[in-house]
Amino acid sequence: MPDYSLEDIVSLAKRRGFVYSTSEIYGGLTSSYDYGPLGAQLLKNIKDAWWTEFITKREDMVGLDSQIMLHPQTWVASGHVGSFSDPLVEDTKNHKRYRADHIIESWIEQHPGAVDHSFSVEDLSIAEMDLFISDHGVLSPDGNTLSEAKDFNLLFKTGIGAVSGEKDTVYLRGETAQGIFSNFKQITDSTRVTLPFGVGQVGKSFRNEITTGQFVFRTLEFEQAEIEYFFNPEESDWRALFSDWKEAMWQFVTHTLGVREDNIRWRQHTDAERSFYSKDTYDLDYHFPFGWKELWGIAYRTDYDLRQHMQHSGQSLEYRDPHAGEVFVPHVIEPAVGINRLLLMVLCDAYWFDAERHRTVLKLSSNLAPYQAAVFPLMKNKPDLVTKARAVFATLLQSGVRVTWDDRGNIGKRYLYQDEVGTPSCITIDFETLENDTVTIRDRDSTEQERMPISDLQHVFNIKG
Ligand code: GAP
Repeated sequence: MPDYSLEDIVSLAKRRGFVYSTSEIYGGLTSSYDYGPLGAQLLKNIKDAWWTEFITKREDMVGLDSQIMLHPQTWVASGHVGSFSDPLVEDTKNHKRYRADHIIESWIEQHPGAVDHSFSVEDLSIAEMDLFISDHGVLSPDGNTLSEAKDFNLLFKTGIGAVSGEKDTVYLRGETAQGIFSNFKQITDSTRVTLPFGVGQVGKSFRNEITTGQFVFRTLEFEQAEIEYFFNPEESDWRALFSDWKEAMWQFVTHTLGVREDNIRWRQHTDAERSFYSKDTYDLDYHFPFGWKELWGIAYRTDYDLRQHMQHSGQSLEYRDPHAGEVFVPHVIEPAVGINRLLLMVLCDAYWFDAERHRTVLKLSSNLAPYQAAVFPLMKNKPDLVTKARAVFATLLQSGVRVTWDDRGNIGKRYLYQDEVGTPSCITIDFETLENDTVTIRDRDSTEQERMPISDLQHVFNIKG
């Protein structure tokens, strides 16, 4: 297990303005979090990195921004109205609700050796979960008996128009993917894309999750980033495409987000766990403080979704090959991730208690850190230092560097604060600056300081002249 706890992350996130509980003044709202000034920037940096890597930099990808509320038939076609559910059990005394699979998982963790290694909770049907709970006398976290498990649909329902009724029911989208499928024809008709190509979109999804207590890992409202990569199964080898996408996901996490390889792993879904229409599914797991958990999923969904929408809409979603003239329904590979889960991973992976110097550091890479630099006047009561520091700060700010100003307390305290929020460089304007236009720049991780001419900051922060 990592040598820090989830509480360490939650506490730093709150203390330093990354993540707050939603509506805290009213006592909070279950599984809901707001992103403070630093968290909002970090979230945006991750989102932008995802969009740049998977949309902007690829000639075979285009972006989309579909609505949160789609035609309700969308969710009938996709299967969400019928079967987008979790197994729910209720404490028979205090009526608190839990996910049956999570209750069983935590019972297994507390009873090592009770089931053999090959046992997988994910493979259990609802009836098998009930049997497990009664056979093993599994109780609620408060020590009470549990009700029978039942399916609990995760879609949030709402209504449009002045008079609400069944015919006005709409759903808050449970995933961003369906907006891509329902726009497939419009995209191929209105752009010059040819197979194989992918459509990506980032946006809010909503799920009435039963599980609580995992911070931003699982929330009611979250930012999803999904790709549907369409191809002709007669022409493209799905295994090769699947493995290319797996590699792109791995590279994004380790290279773009700077996460350590030791902390991620692939897990293939078992036959029982995989959706019936999927030919292969993998999860990219991260080693969170509460165990190895799914970060990002990838599934080969065949032509299931497009065919479902064809059947329910009565419209053709076929593709006509511009060269061979062949008409067919494309197949699809879907890499789907939650941006908030990426953010939690990034915070966990960057968290470092530097025992030698007794400080907490967020080792965020410069492309993700909310602030790339902080500028300090050595002393705030020396007008010459403040004026000079303000000029350096303004230049960096105007050049688009994410930079912050700090003149509170002594320099040591300012360093500690910037280390905790992950600012890679601290620039100090001191008396020598006034003489020769040089500044010190301190590195967050090594704490080493280098003196350099102010003009060199342009290279350090990649500012175009
Ligand atoms: N279209 C496929 C799909 O939605 P999923 O595994 O249900 O697949 C994809 O979701 C990703 O979305 C997950 O791997 C996770 O990163 C993120 N995600 C799902 N539910 C979430 C929740 N309640 N809170 C935060 N992120 C969530």
